[in-house]
Amino acid sequence: MSETQEPNPDRERDATDRGRTVHGEAANAGHRVLAPDDAEVEAYLEQALHAAPPQRIEAEAAEQPDTVVVLDFGSQFAQLIARRVRELNVYSELLPHDTPMAELERRGARAVILSGGPSSVYDEGAPKADPALWSGRIPVLGICYGLQLMALELGGEVVPSAKREYGPATVNLTEADGLFTGLEGEQPVWMSHGDSILRPPEGFRSTAQTDSTPYAGLADPGRNLYGIQFHPEVVHTPIGRDVLRNFVVGIAGVRPTWTAGSLIETTVADIRERVGDGHVICALSGGVDSAVAATLVQRAIGDQLTCIYVDHGLMRKRESELLRVTFERDLGMRLVMVDARDRFLKRLAGVEDPEEKRRIIGDEFIRVFEEEAAKIGQIDFLTQGTLYPDVIESKTSETKASQKIKTHHNVGGLPSDLRFKLIEPLRSLFKDEVRNVGLELGLPEAMVQRQPFPGPGLAIRILGEVTAERLDTLREADWIVIDEIKAAGLYRSLWQSFAILTPVRSVGVMGDGRTYANVVAIRAVTSDDGMTADWARLPYEILARISSRIVNEVPGVNRVVYDISSKPPATIEWE
Ligand code: XMP
Repeated sequence: MSETQEPNPDRERDATDRGRTVHGEAANAGHRVLAPDDAEVEAYLEQALHAAPPQRIEAEAAEQPDTVVVLDFGSQFAQLIARRVRELNVYSELLPHDTPMAELERRGARAVILSGGPSSVYDEGAPKADPALWSGRIPVLGICYGLQLMALELGGEVVPSAKREYGPATVNLTEADGLFTGLEGEQPVWMSHGDSILRPPEGFRSTAQTDSTPYAGLADPGRNLYGIQFHPEVVHTPIGRDVLRNFVVGIAGVRPTWTAGSLIETTVADIRERVGDGHVICALSGGVDSAVAATLVQRAIGDQLTCIYVDHGLMRKRESELLRVTFERDLGMRLVMVDARDRFLKRLAGVEDPEEKRRIIGDEFIRVFEEEAAKIGQIDFLTQGTLYPDVIESKTSETKASQKIKTHHNVGGLPSDLRFKLIEPLRSLFKDEVRNVGLELGLPEAMVQRQPFPGPGLAIRILGEVTAERLDTLREADWIVIDEIKAAGLYRSLWQSFAILTPVRSVGVMGDGRTYANVVAIRAVTSDDGMTADWARLPYEILARISSRIVNEVPGVNRVVYDISSKPPATIEWE
């Protein structure tokens, strides 16, 4: 599923299932690193520097723009609310439901939204908010569970409904100002709740009704408290965006000034101040996160940044060249481009086991980085492309990928006394926002809109031994897949689309002759986050074009098959 699509509200996911495979183990157990693009390569650099967990500096409250805080009561849509607010050009962050009021004020919260959640307000240990929230000092909007909690805490009555209301509903808006300014009458909305409000707290009036509840919307403008039973954040509620804008801009009076441009300006200024005359290092992987992070840092401090890019020869066609042209020629970045193609190939010779390939590639990355870092001399800061979802999901000071890699590639006996400070210029951004910033910075579309690509590159898309010749075959086939998918306008709606070189050879006929050549598989999937995925229903005409082009243009391939497996039980990559 692309970023423009919605999570499927029909699929309520239990919080404990997140990040787990069908077998119940952590999805990135073992050597597979479910890395958001660049995390794997970044972690290798960290390891090569023998770095202790880098010091992560909390963003200073004073530098925060006007903020709308979303308090997370466990809804799978909580992040989506923050994203919707950001689409209004207002900065929004997600914090735990029990964040104290003093902390909200310290962070410059100008409005608070209480998310929905799977609990009933009557459950033992049901999540609560700081009662100081109801003081009216900051406008509060409760959504679903958030509304019920507000109603209960302020003396209203909430009861379990006989039937859970779930799915599309029609709401009748009976108050044409406040939250519903510019909206009126009956509107389609999305509902998902078990409890209902029987009696609102004193001072509240009903602002919306449905067939099943007279309190689908409540307001006490005197106390700055608002609530809605429906979900404004999902696309199934067409008026959702207007409701959120009415709350954030209309009621709370927050100015919509948070744009890619303003973000670049403040980030660049911050980095300049923090770094002073220190030296910064960054590992480029070819992915969008490290590319955007490095560009921001370079804009701030120019030559004090050194980027290292290891060309392991496992990249796709023209990728390394695009990177060189963009960073070295166009941006004038101090870029160390290491041609390590032979080294990686030599170490991969004769290796067929997927996990062994990953281990070798990781190990070689670390060696190359060690050698290069030693040539650079004094290094004070590490730049990484950590994104907001990683920050809120990881309670530790390291990225999850980094931890995983460290446990698997532990060379042992490393001194761990070097301490670097981390620069994470993207730590407040969602992926689509990083892309916007990248475009604003002038990075090429092909880099900014790139689909995720694994750290071990094409090595895990060649089943069996990786050789220079097989890499060339796969690169050519893969190029055709990408080319056709882009030509059909499908590239961005797919999570990933690529070719796999199978170890199978099959008989074919070309002209008058019999052939015995390679079978290439095509994989195209839609996905939300890579944890689950569905095979894409690509139009037959596109599959036909891809197939005939590969067979005609790529020497040594006479058959193309399409992978129609979903994840689970299959994985996205074949190895
Ligand atoms: P699977 O194949 O497990 O992949 O369904 C899920 C997502 O993770 C990516 N992936 C990797 N990324 N190093 C990485 O940096 C790896 O070893 C690796 N293995 C899988 C994969 O491309 C997909 O986006």
